[in-house]
Amino acid sequence: MRLNKHTYICGDTCVLVPYRKEHVPTYHEWMKSPELLELTASEPLSLEEEYEMQQKWQTDEDKLTFIILARPDDLPADSNLLLTWKEVQRCKMVGDVNLFKPEGGDDAECEIMIAEPGFRRKGIAMEALGLFITYAVHHLPLSPRHFIARIGTANQASISLFERLGFGKVKVVEVWSEAEMRWGWTGGEYDDAWADIHHPDEADAWPKSRLEGRLGHADGDADG
Ligand SMILES: CC(C)(COP(=O)(O)OP(=O)(O)OC[C@H]1O[C@@H](n2cnc3c(N)ncnc32)[C@H](O)[C@@H]1OP(=O)(O)O)[C@@H](O)C(=O)NCCC(=O)NCCS
Repeated sequence: MRLNKHTYICGDTCVLVPYRKEHVPTYHEWMKSPELLELTASEPLSLEEEYEMQQKWQTDEDKLTFIILARPDDLPADSNLLLTWKEVQRCKMVGDVNLFKPEGGDDAECEIMIAEPGFRRKGIAMEALGLFITYAVHHLPLSPRHFIARIGTANQASISLFERLGFGKVKVVEVWSEAEMRWGWTGGEYDDAWADIHHPDEADAWPKSRLEGRLGHADGDADG
């Protein structure tokens, strides 16, 4: 999606930036890990295929993605402080967060990965996902209820993360050993119509983060 081609979002622990060509070599290195491939249900790609995939993430209108950078310790973690683009470029790339819209419905399936093990358990995924969903519900025709995640039933870290953000387990698809989670779901018998009940101001039902003072303009080659 071209929506975020020049947008970066500053959090207290992380910065979300558009996925550009310069990120592909690191991304490709990460995705050589069999563990990450399994946890994210991804296929191994050649470097060339990874560049093609980056272009798709940037241009396909059913996909939105940001690379997650860790905010360095020597830059103050003040929630009102927007880093300059120059400062952002000093930050280390540690993961990504994305959504895609499966055909034939309103849902948005989201995924997050903190690929660098040394940057896990620091609250980065929690904050990044909060900022990402806030951005998406305020810029796309999506309500928080449209957000789903499909997570391996053995991936307790990710299941706990999504639960902490207000997702509930709708069902387990035994054949894939996969749990489907949806934001706002609190249990009971699932009815597809539930996700289609909208309120005009439902974006505000996602209270996790605020974006004021956190959005910056990412310079450079939007097609890069
Ligand atoms: C799952 C993952 C994204 C969590 O990232 P993270 O930055 O370490 O998560 P956070 O520090 O923001 O943790 C937020 C909450 O998630 C849960 N959590 C995170 N890691 C966990 C772990 N190893 N075990 C249990 N719960 C965990 C906890 O509830 C945690 O809150 P707490 O620290 O207050 O207990 C990260 O481990 C990862 O990228 N794993 C590999 C890829 C993957 O599984 N992606 C998900 C595919 S949908």
